[in-house]
Amino acid sequence: MTGRPLIMTVVGARPQFVKAAPVSRALARAGLSEILVHTGQHYDWEMSQAFFEGLSLPAPAVNLEVGSGPHGQQTGRMLSLLESTILERQPQFVLVYGDTNSTLAGALAAAKLYVPVMHVEAGLRSFNRKMPEEVNRVVTDHLAAVNFAPTQLAVSNLQQEGITENVFLVGDVMLDLARETEASLEDRKSSVLGPLGLTPSGYVVATIHRPENTDDPSRWKAILESVRGVAEEVAPVVWPIHPRVRHQLPSDLPATIKLVPPAPYLEMQTLVRFASAVITDSGGLQKEAAFRQTPCVTLRPETEWRELVECGLNVLVEPDRTFVVQAVRAAKWPGGDLPPHLYGNGHAADAISQIIDRRHADARRDP
Ligand code: UD1
Repeated sequence: MTGRPLIMTVVGARPQFVKAAPVSRALARAGLSEILVHTGQHYDWEMSQAFFEGLSLPAPAVNLEVGSGPHGQQTGRMLSLLESTILERQPQFVLVYGDTNSTLAGALAAAKLYVPVMHVEAGLRSFNRKMPEEVNRVVTDHLAAVNFAPTQLAVSNLQQEGITENVFLVGDVMLDLARETEASLEDRKSSVLGPLGLTPSGYVVATIHRPENTDDPSRWKAILESVRGVAEEVAPVVWPIHPRVRHQLPSDLPATIKLVPPAPYLEMQTLVRFASAVITDSGGLQKEAAFRQTPCVTLRPETEWRELVECGLNVLVEPDRTFVVQAVRAAKWPGGDLPPHLYGNGHAADAISQIIDRRHADARRDP
């Protein structure tokens, strides 16, 4: 790509690759030029490259290779490198996704250079400022020139903080990808479940990676005991292990807990689609479970996806063996499709691209 791109998309962590994929395709369809900048926050093949390949995401124009580190250090390194990259490439807009340190760094670097920031998945709130993501979201929403909200609740959250201009309720881009890939999951069923010895509806998928859960020794112990309880009393558990917890797992877990490496998008979606329940602390997976009509048990005291709890598709449970076993046993999809008012119609990416196109046209008319 030569010349000045219209959009610089900043990504860095696994969930952002998933969100960027449908939007990148929509931008390309609309003929809007985009370059991807990868901060390098996630760098293991399974956490990064596997997603670019599996989702046919264009290769990043630049990889800043910041790697891991304490939050301030990691975000600071990104900020400094993103500033130079924005100055060099001169995009008209910077597009950021979600709530990771890469999101915050992208938004801050752009805003300081007066480049308008556009935030996809804006307005989410857990109201827990101890979550690093909550801090990242709040700051990013306030810096953004345009906020793309996935839900009505997200729009209301923004309104309550005085953000009312250039807020667009577009639906959830993760639903776009879920719809696009739904038909292919049936074909993958036997190749994904077979080697793990799993049968449809005969297992549970678990993912745990939040520092609030993994870095507090007594909470982590209770989580391990809860997963063990499910595996011993309810059904086998398949658990794709985030690298953050790789070295924290005891060696005496039962064989009915099947530890596997982080799964690429389509494999993970297949596991979720055919599971009897999902146990997670991930934000994205709470929604993906709902998109695949699989009930979800969330090991957190609160969630930014409150509408799922209100509709009875997700329950919040303290990590206690008895409670978690009970919740997984009771978990049941209530029947019917995901209510369409929750996350839109599966065309959020096209809506985003049209709005960007309009703003681009306005900026050309009235520079
Ligand atoms: C980040 C996001 C979180 C998101 C998650 C998705 C922030 C604050 N958090 O959390 O919102 O849900 O990504 O996975 O941005 N590591 C590796 N290889 C990698 C990446 C990480 O080994 O490719 C290990 C390192 O030990 C690292 C730790 O995981 O220190 C945490 O990685 P980091 O990117 O800081 O945060 P995540 O927990 O992945």
